[in-house]
Amino acid sequence: MSYVPSVVVSNERIYGKYYLLTVKTLRRLVRTPQPPQFSMVWVPGVDLIPLSYALYEGSSATFFYKVVGDGTRNLSLKKPGDVVAISEPIGRPFTNVENPVFLVGGSGVASVIHYSRYLKNFSGMWGVKSGALAEALLERFPKLKQLHLVSEDCAVGFCGKLTDFLDRLRLDSDTTVITAGPLEMVRAVCRWTRARGIRGYVVAEAMVKCGIGACGSCTIGNLLLCKDGPAVSCDVF
Ligand SMILES: Cc1cc2nc3c(=O)[nH]c(=O)nc-3n(C[C@H](O)[C@H](O)[C@H](O)COP(=O)(O)OP(=O)(O)OC[C@H]3O[C@@H](n4cnc5c(N)ncnc54)[C@H](O)[C@@H]3O)c2cc1C
Ligand code: FES
Repeated sequence: MSYVPSVVVSNERIYGKYYLLTVKTLRRLVRTPQPPQFSMVWVPGVDLIPLSYALYEGSSATFFYKVVGDGTRNLSLKKPGDVVAISEPIGRPFTNVENPVFLVGGSGVASVIHYSRYLKNFSGMWGVKSGALAEALLERFPKLKQLHLVSEDCAVGFCGKLTDFLDRLRLDSDTTVITAGPLEMVRAVCRWTRARGIRGYVVAEAMVKCGIGACGSCTIGNLLLCKDGPAVSCDVF
């Protein structure tokens, strides 16, 4: 897999453990990333981290990530001018979507930011633990206002967890639900879509190593996330 050296332009803490990283690639990527594709972000001397594109414009790539372990913690320490590298985009674009409804939690919203550049109309819900995170990101990406907010601290939108409010949705049979976020949440969303005969897809996460379909580490059911995903049918969950 080829990597493109990239210079950190900004790496801003949005709220709590959530960051927005923008890098400038030193050459243009060969393939323009399309939602919900991702790249491996190489933090020199530390790790390779799979992250979904939130934006790609010109030679500028933006990722929205949460610090969960060593790799993302080291990434969060990068300052403007530091060098990282990003791989060519991995996975298949999934953009030809009828009536998209996004049901996402936490950093699962990253791909929705990217989708919002491709889709005129979309709807859905974004679940967060803290309303302050949603407010901070909405300021930067106003198109996300098309999503209803659900917050566990009750600071914005509906009060509770996203899965508490699924039955409030009135979806047509031609809707395509796309979900991303914590495993427990995406499984609940998939159970819900299946029970109602609605098409459902997960922007899935798995352990990505080679990123080229060779090592099998990203197996989900009978699919490889890096080759067949990252959007995979709810049937696999
Ligand atoms: C295709 C893809 C796209 C992703 N996009 C984003 C994104 O846009 N924003 C974002 O915040 N995160 C995203 N992630 C998750 C992100 O890659 C992981 O959080 C990161 O690799 C953790 O690395 P770490 O070294 O900080 O933590 P580690 O120390 O490696 O892990 C911390 C904890 O997270 C678990 N974990 C790590 N990686 C994964 C994984 N891939 N699946 C399930 N559990 C895992 C570990 O088991 C451990 O419990 C994505 C993952 C994939 C596979
Ligand atoms: S990461 Fe190796 S097969 Fe997908």
